[in-house]
Amino acid sequence: MRECTPVSEEKQQDAAAQFWDQESVSPTHVSWMADPSVREYINASISGSPHIWPMDWFLQFLGTRRFGRALSIGCGTGPLERDLIRRGICRQVDAFDGSPGSIDIARNLAAEEGVGDHIHYYVDDFNEPKLPRNAYDIVFFHQSLHHVAKLEKLMAAILRTLRRGGLLYIDEYIGPSRFDWDDVLIAPHRALFAQMPAECRLFDLLPLPIHPVDPSEAIRSSEIMPQLARGFRLLARRDYGGTILSVFFPAIDWSRAPESLAGDLIAAEKQALADGLPPYHAIAVATPKRAPMRWLARVGYFVTPKLRRIRWEIRKRLHPDEEVKF
Ligand SMILES: C[S@@+](CC[C@H](N)C(=O)[O-])C[C@H]1O[C@@H](n2cnc3c(N)ncnc32)[C@H](O)[C@@H]1O
Repeated sequence: MRECTPVSEEKQQDAAAQFWDQESVSPTHVSWMADPSVREYINASISGSPHIWPMDWFLQFLGTRRFGRALSIGCGTGPLERDLIRRGICRQVDAFDGSPGSIDIARNLAAEEGVGDHIHYYVDDFNEPKLPRNAYDIVFFHQSLHHVAKLEKLMAAILRTLRRGGLLYIDEYIGPSRFDWDDVLIAPHRALFAQMPAECRLFDLLPLPIHPVDPSEAIRSSEIMPQLARGFRLLARRDYGGTILSVFFPAIDWSRAPESLAGDLIAAEKQALADGLPPYHAIAVATPKRAPMRWLARVGYFVTPKLRRIRWEIRKRLHPDEEVKF
């Protein structure tokens, strides 16, 4: 188990902002979701149809309900907010991200597309949330909650900022956190990877899928659903895999891959999920629990990180040479 200290949580904001400033102008990551056949598989997992996209599914889920004021957290270059306004799902969206470069791009694209008057973009750190009380009808995360280190603090802030009956929508990686990965956890993936054509494998042994540059990547992803369940009641959940696909895609030389490979990987993923491996990606729609459960959740969100720190400090003192997870 690798070490994750409170200090590294504090410092990760700068490194993440630098990484995403760069990524917003010249992307380096291999997106498994961009492959057309994978996209159809994802859509079908969420909506039941390969041609019905997540936001179309969400519109079906909402029926006639629409939102006045929305907040999008970790908005990046802003595709979600532009879509929300274009489709009339929300009238006004506030959106922030820790990467100033991404926010500049988001502002420009919104202005170019004629939706700039409806979206207020700003730079902020989601680990130190400063959200107004009772201000939003819905809060969105699109592939950003798995970068949050201070999950409890942010969940408590969302409970405070949502208006009565408000919604929380997440579309997220909820698989193993970066500190969870070890040779045991990756063993089933490695066994499958070894069966793939040698010429298109970039590695003999599938590496642990831990982002080498962005320290916020999957920082506490495996805790997202349990933390959400503390303060929120789940209204809908749609799992869409990624268990094999998201791990294998960056490890493949696609210029040498046979045409059938994406389809083969989708089939392998379906089999792995049927055999009991957990889904790594999900959409969830939730609403704050009613009082007094909501108040209890806020106490839990407040106390848990403090207990975690005390436990970490005691274990560090007892075992100074051991790597201890924070
Ligand atoms: C995978 S991107 C998702 C961006 C966008 N939501 C999308 O779907 O295109 C993750 C985003 O989280 C942002 N992020 C990482 N750490 C952050 C922090 N501490 N505060 C605010 N945003 C942060 C990054 O800058 C990046 O834009």
